[in-house]
Amino acid sequence: MTTLTSQPEWQRLSELAASVKDAHMRDWFAQDPSRAETMQAEACGIHLDYSKNRVTQEVLDGLFELASARGLDSARSEMFGGEPINTTENRAVLHTALRNFSGQPVMVDGEDVMPEVLATLEKIRTFTESVHSGEHKGYTGKPVKDVVAIGIGGSFLGPKIMTEALKPYRSDAVNVHFVANVDGCHIKDVLAGVDHEETLVVMSSKSFSTQETLQNTVTARDWFLAQGGTQEDVAKHFVAVSSNVKAATDFGIAEHNIFPMWDWVGGRYSLWSAIGLPISLSLGFENFKGLLEGAHEMDNHFKDAPLKSNLPVIMAMLGVWYRNFFDAQSTVMLPYYHYLRGLPAYVQQLDMESNGKQVTKDGEVVDHETGPIIWGSEGTNGQHSFHQLIHQGTSLIPADFMLPLNVPNQDDTHHAMLASNCFGQTQALMQGKTFDECYADLEGAGLDDETRQHIALHKTMPGNKPSNTLLFNQLDPKTLGSLVALYEHKVFVQGVIWQVNSFDQWGVELGKVLGNQVLDGIQGKADADQFDASTLQLIEKFRNANAPK
Ligand code: F6P
Repeated sequence: MTTLTSQPEWQRLSELAASVKDAHMRDWFAQDPSRAETMQAEACGIHLDYSKNRVTQEVLDGLFELASARGLDSARSEMFGGEPINTTENRAVLHTALRNFSGQPVMVDGEDVMPEVLATLEKIRTFTESVHSGEHKGYTGKPVKDVVAIGIGGSFLGPKIMTEALKPYRSDAVNVHFVANVDGCHIKDVLAGVDHEETLVVMSSKSFSTQETLQNTVTARDWFLAQGGTQEDVAKHFVAVSSNVKAATDFGIAEHNIFPMWDWVGGRYSLWSAIGLPISLSLGFENFKGLLEGAHEMDNHFKDAPLKSNLPVIMAMLGVWYRNFFDAQSTVMLPYYHYLRGLPAYVQQLDMESNGKQVTKDGEVVDHETGPIIWGSEGTNGQHSFHQLIHQGTSLIPADFMLPLNVPNQDDTHHAMLASNCFGQTQALMQGKTFDECYADLEGAGLDDETRQHIALHKTMPGNKPSNTLLFNQLDPKTLGSLVALYEHKVFVQGVIWQVNSFDQWGVELGKVLGNQVLDGIQGKADADQFDASTLQLIEKFRNANAPK
């Protein structure tokens, strides 16, 4: 395949970038009254206004032409068709099969995976219902009141953030607590607040080899035994989600308490699998299913909609535009909805673990930028801190604003203020405020002209800062499912353009290996000459601080 940067469509975009760099969106809005109407799209209850972007129709056409030229159509078919597109691990990538309600088979290596997917879904349903109804009892005959969900990365972020985002839909049958970090403070605090007779531990680890998750589960099991439970009782209080059934049973989890997953589900794409069990336990199975249905709707939209009205494609190509032609190093996500405050952290793993790559699928070192840094937090809080840099700093930071038009138990005044801040920020970023406007504002402020000019200069807002605005009605399970799938497909499209494998994560492996060696060092089981001088010094400091007194 032609390299990305020598692709004629890429070169055309370079020329277009040079030609629009000095243009201001404020002028485009003034010149074209239909801009906002033209540059919007809608699918699955999600409305996208992308008119506040530094693009003309010609640029958009150029971006879609690049997507076609890079083989987006066939790449998409390969993913949905179960081809082993995760080439370094020789695996299919089929999170879409986990939410496939089409009734159609999905084949991997000549075998339909849907019967197993549906059987696991049914197991999640019956288990959730037995916990909620009180039929599933602990070893002393008490029903479950608290669930402690242990996992990390994709085996944590999805379940935690979805249950947080859907707080208004939670069932009051059980409280779900999440623990990820190996920092013992967290598990200790959580276990201190629950009664072992009424607690169910859900251990989620696709590999069943992740240090943090294994250690937290051992700590939970030791706590359970110390509180009075026996090894035999563990079966009533511990379940696991894993694709490594052998390791889970070796650990002591009863086989019937293991919810399966498969190697064709990537960690950061796994919330739709049994990794979502804590979501079902928190919200009830029907709401979990709603999430899956919403994602399935977005899958269909992504597969079927023409590129120019395809939400994931539009957002992906705008991202490529800024990353590769405007040198934008990061993208900020700004959910104006308190319950959706975790989404930036979720998309951070999804995007940065997927597209934070330096080698193409063909094994060439890339000669173009790949995945951006993803960050952000809930609005309006950021307006009183980091928005300063987005407005007046020297980096270009494209922003995704998002807002539900209605919220449950709405307080109209609060909600109107929230919305006005959200829209107001997009406006301020786009139009800015000129020096002349700032200078005029200072009329009558009693300043001499030199001071007036000086202050006006500091107050000048360049504007021309791009943003997307995503609106939806209430954030119900279905809409959230669609929203998350929208970001998944956006990341996929960008991976296709940059020609990286979006589904492996070799970059996190070295740290795991060295972390274990350092642990040996701390525990006095490793030779000092294994470590560089700095690391050795750190180890020694730790050992000294923890030496028996
Ligand atoms: O360390 C990265 C990672 O492999 C993620 O991709 C994954 O989501 C997480 O660790 C947890 O892995 P597991 O589910 O195997 O415990």
